[in-house]
Amino acid sequence: MSDQAADLVAALARLAAEAEQLIRAAPDGDALQRLKTEYLGRKAGRVTAILKALPSLESEARRAVGQAANQAKAAIEQQLADAEAARAATAPPAAGDLTMPARPVWRGALHPVTIVADEICEIFHELGFTRAIGPEAETERNNFTALNFPPEHPALDMQPTFYLGQGTLLRSHTSPVQIRVMEAYQPPIRVTIPGRCYRRDPFDASHAPVFTQVEGLCVDEGISFVDLKAAITFFARRFFASGVRVRFRPSFFPFTEPSAEVDVECQLCHGSGCPACKGTGWMEILGCGMVDPAVFEAVGVDAEHYTGWAFGMGLDRAAMVRYGIPDIRMLSDADMRFHRQFVDSV
Ligand code: DAH
Repeated sequence: MSDQAADLVAALARLAAEAEQLIRAAPDGDALQRLKTEYLGRKAGRVTAILKALPSLESEARRAVGQAANQAKAAIEQQLADAEAARAATAPPAAGDLTMPARPVWRGALHPVTIVADEICEIFHELGFTRAIGPEAETERNNFTALNFPPEHPALDMQPTFYLGQGTLLRSHTSPVQIRVMEAYQPPIRVTIPGRCYRRDPFDASHAPVFTQVEGLCVDEGISFVDLKAAITFFARRFFASGVRVRFRPSFFPFTEPSAEVDVECQLCHGSGCPACKGTGWMEILGCGMVDPAVFEAVGVDAEHYTGWAFGMGLDRAAMVRYGIPDIRMLSDADMRFHRQFVDSV
């Protein structure tokens, strides 16, 4: 054997012995993996480097070194496999406890205001109402003028509005969708219209600049205030409680005549008076009235032939009463501890 070949065979024996020691001392699987790469790695492994040099040796030396290299390689592989097997036998199973129940997946929940809106629309659906929607960015004409607000009417001050530009605004109520529906469809009309509205209100526990309403509109031949009272009372007894007392108070809205505000017996104290109802025993739930003929005229409905009633109801407070939510801001905060409570709604 040539000197060069003898040196290489000796080097291989040293490598194998060195590797064996290091493999025994390896603390974990990562260390074993690193040793495998260091000695046997295809690109820069130390044993591999000697195997790669074989073609440059003359044939007899090549055979001797090749044999020694293959032995060293096999020995190191065996030691690595033994070490890995010993480690696997003592280490905890990587898969963990397969019988442990899986963590529940977050499925999402409906927003409490959405739940209440759906419920209201469903109750009116039983009376033959379908749903309609309209845009949140509206014209001043649909939001005010066509609803019989005179240009200088104090109601425009009563509802300080977010204007987007000349003649355009963020709707301050869902009533402009009444205009859109009556311009798009001929009576008979029966629709509920849920949607977001905007007003320049302070943002505190009971006011928000963004809130949700449901509007209702019924237009047909021979519709009277009796129909309005019956429908609203039916709704209130479905939505709140079957025997709940309901009262209609005269009120004013530019788009209805006559107009009323509707109260139901306070759902917290049942009429005896508490801080929530300011001691009155009643909670105001909505505004309503008979559609003013001036509104019919603006949209081209024949007021000689048709009459109608309408209502508008704020949903945020209804959701707060329903779910005992003390602060309106909780409805728009992205606090998952709050929203997770509604997960059963899906
Ligand atoms: N648009 C009114 C508001 O936001 C609520 C309202 C009252 C709507 C009477 C109606 C109605 O349709 O007839 O305060």
